[in-house]
Amino acid sequence: MAETRLTADNLILPVFIKDGISQPEEIGSMPGILRYPPNDHLIKFVDENFNKGITKLVVFGIPSFKDNIASSAFQKDGVIQRSLRLLKQTFGEKIVLIADECTDEYTSHGHCGIVNYRGSNYYIDNDESIKVHAKIALSQAEAGADVIAPSSMMDGVVGAIRKELDDNGFQDTLIMAYSVKYASVFYSPFREAASSAPAFGDRKSYQMDPRNSYEALKEAKLDIEEGADILMVKPAHTYLDVIRLVKDTFSTYPLAAYHVSGEYSMIKAAVKNGWLNERNAVMEITYSIKRAGADLILTYYAPQLAEWIREGTPF
Ligand code: PBG
Repeated sequence: MAETRLTADNLILPVFIKDGISQPEEIGSMPGILRYPPNDHLIKFVDENFNKGITKLVVFGIPSFKDNIASSAFQKDGVIQRSLRLLKQTFGEKIVLIADECTDEYTSHGHCGIVNYRGSNYYIDNDESIKVHAKIALSQAEAGADVIAPSSMMDGVVGAIRKELDDNGFQDTLIMAYSVKYASVFYSPFREAASSAPAFGDRKSYQMDPRNSYEALKEAKLDIEEGADILMVKPAHTYLDVIRLVKDTFSTYPLAAYHVSGEYSMIKAAVKNGWLNERNAVMEITYSIKRAGADLILTYYAPQLAEWIREGTPF
C-alpha cells in the first residue's frame, strides 16, 4: 500500500570521463566515485550497471586542455565525443546517453559561459555564451547523445540548442534542462571531481538564489517555451519543496532532480564515522526525492540503489 515506488528506471547515473588516463582514478572529495578513461574500463563499469537495470547515464568530461572559449568541449575527437561514440557503438539503443552540456570543465576560468570585460570588471557574456553552448550540443548529438542536458543556466540556452539541433537534423534529440539550478555550496566536491571550480568570482549571476522558490516557476516556464522536454531541479535533497512546486505546476513535464556531490559526500562522511546507516539513509532520502515529485533522479548512489531496491524491503 506504500504510495511511493522507486525502480532502477527512475535512476540516472552520473559518470566522470577523463582524457589522458589509462586507469580509473579515485576522487578525494567523493569516496567511492571514480573518473574513468574512455576505454574498456568505462565499458565495464557501464556494463555492470546495465546489468543492474541502470540504462540512463549522464556523462561529464574532463578534457586534456582548457582555453577561454571551451574548444575542447566541441572537438570531434574530444573526450566526451569519443566516449559517446564508444558507448553508442557498444550498447546501441539499449542505453540512454545524456550529455551534460556546459563549459565549466573546459574553460581556463571555469565559468559556465564566455567571460568578457568592461574595463577591469569581468562579466559573463550571455549571448556569446549561448552560441558556444549550441555548438557543444550539436557536437554531442553528432557523437551519439540521445539527450542534451544544458547546465549553464544562461538565458535562452535551451532555445539556441533546440534551433541548432533542429537545423542540423537532430529533431529527435531531447533536451533535459537544468532549469532550476541553485547557486549551491553542495556542488563543491563535484568541482574537485571535474576540476571545474571557477578561477575567480562565483556563479551567483547565473544560478538561482537559495532563498527563492517561485522564481523556479519562471525559469521552468521559459525553458518549456524554448523547447525543453524534461525539467530539472538541482540540488534535490535540499530543495524538496521546489521539486513539489515545479511538479505540481508543470505536471505534464517529466521532472528530474539531482542528488548532488555534496549531498552524496555528506552521507559518506557520516557513514564513515558510524553516525548513519548508509543503506537506510540513502533509501530514505531517495524515496523522499521521489515522493516530492521527481520522476527521474540523478544520483551517485545509483549502483547501490539498484541492488537495494531489488532486495525488497526499503528500510
Ligand atoms: C556544470 C555542472 C555542475 C554540476 C553538474 N553540472 C557544477 C556546477 O554547476 O558548479 C554539479 C553536480 C554535482 O555537484 O554533483 N557542468
